[in-house]
Amino acid sequence: MEKSMDFRTIDWVNGRIKIIDQRQLPGRLSYLHIKDLKRLWQAIKTLTVRGAPALGAAAALGVYLGVKNRSFKNFNDFERELKRVIGYIASSRPTAKNLFWALERIRRAGIKDPRRPVSEIKKAILAEAKKIMEEDIISCRKIGCFGAKLINHNDAILTICNAGSLATVGYGTALGVIYQAKKEGKKIKVYSCETRPILQGARLTTWELKKRGVDVTLICDNMAATLMQQGKIDKVITGADRIASNGDSANKIGTYDLAVLSRYHKVPFYVAAPASTFDLEVKHGKEIPIEQRPAEEIHSLFFKKRMAAKGIKVYNPAFDVTPASLITALITDKGILRAPFRESIRRMIP
Ligand code: MRU
Repeated sequence: MEKSMDFRTIDWVNGRIKIIDQRQLPGRLSYLHIKDLKRLWQAIKTLTVRGAPALGAAAALGVYLGVKNRSFKNFNDFERELKRVIGYIASSRPTAKNLFWALERIRRAGIKDPRRPVSEIKKAILAEAKKIMEEDIISCRKIGCFGAKLINHNDAILTICNAGSLATVGYGTALGVIYQAKKEGKKIKVYSCETRPILQGARLTTWELKKRGVDVTLICDNMAATLMQQGKIDKVITGADRIASNGDSANKIGTYDLAVLSRYHKVPFYVAAPASTFDLEVKHGKEIPIEQRPAEEIHSLFFKKRMAAKGIKVYNPAFDVTPASLITALITDKGILRAPFRESIRRMIP
């Protein structure tokens, strides 16, 4: 674990997955120690752990939890179970590419050499999951360094959802850019959209930015247009859950709104994400699966206090897709990608 990080979102400690319980924030920084696969699945589903890169790490460690205590007659027996566990984790949330990318990496590590004893294969799976975690921290640092070059002293930056330390193993993507710019001595002001319905912006982004001494102001999602009209926003930076091979980017619902507003107000709109968020098999945004979340998230305040009439119909897509044509640049761990995105992505993303 990196010394300079004041908290780590996900880790492997004493045979368990240690995660920050993000449902408790900003009230309490508490940790869960997950030791079985079903709990891990629930933690993903309930956004206890969330954010595309953090989901990748959780999924990878989850596979190890699923196979570690089971005995297998032979490799075929093991492979069958590996497939079942991977399929189960894959059924938790559909949009973040990182989750499927990590599961595929683990599958490959598991089937690489069938002649090894299963005990060795299990070790290889854990080693691969740990590698995914450490690589994520490095990727975020690279995104931060590339992205900080785009930031000027005294910039006011608008962001949505949480694409920070809490959405990754550590550091963050969109917020990583802000942390790095601050480290370089630039004065930055951040506006955070509250991010209905689950309020990742209000609960998580403001919490971690304040903790790191970044000047942050919370706004309701429907205030972004006014701020831009008043000339208060210099740049928008968001994260991404899946980026198609043409640059169309899926991210938290409301991101597309900000991209449309940015174009109208001539504000640069940046998407920050590691290579593991790109899905080169997806040609454009329409092919990206968009998660539908439970109605309670919208009609009942934190699933308890009802805010809408009983029986009301609810539509609750968790993500939207910003067309590449509205994106000024993609800030990745491989560098800054610009239009035409199909070419820059093909050139830079392995
Ligand atoms: O539903 P969530 O909270 O998992 O959504 C997360 C986001 O939309 C993030 O912006 C995205 O995963 C990028 S995280 C670096």
